[in-house]
Amino acid sequence: MSGEPVYLKVFRYDPGADNAPRYEDYEVPWRQGLLLLQGLRYVRDNLDETLAFRDYCCGCSWCMSCVMTVNGKGRRTCSKLIMPGEHILVEPMRGFPIIRDLAVDFGVSITTSVGTFRKMAGTVLRRWNDAAGPDQGLGS
Ligand code: FES
Repeated sequence: MSGEPVYLKVFRYDPGADNAPRYEDYEVPWRQGLLLLQGLRYVRDNLDETLAFRDYCCGCSWCMSCVMTVNGKGRRTCSKLIMPGEHILVEPMRGFPIIRDLAVDFGVSITTSVGTFRKMAGTVLRRWNDAAGPDQGLGS
């Protein structure tokens, strides 16, 4: 079943080439069961091959590699169902260095007696739920 398209406003930024971030709008055909990560793949495969993001790793809400900021909240994009006509703001996960567009450096995970942290170039952050604040809880 198909319906009204989905409208994605997507954060774009290449730290090595751009002076500032920008947003680009994409229209994605909706179909029953469409997930946000599939919508981003549609953009990359059909509309703009330069869009960078982490593609499927597990595809089942386990690995967290697909986490992005969706309408202001941290979400697993591989399990975020989208509805016909929905307008969605897609940005990189907050609190992590941007590699390009929606792809960030998640670093490596370090677990100690005082918690779990992410180690990245030049910094250590408490795992993203803590680092991003209470409104950044990771929904499905
Ligand atoms: S791809 Fe693994 S949680 Fe989304």
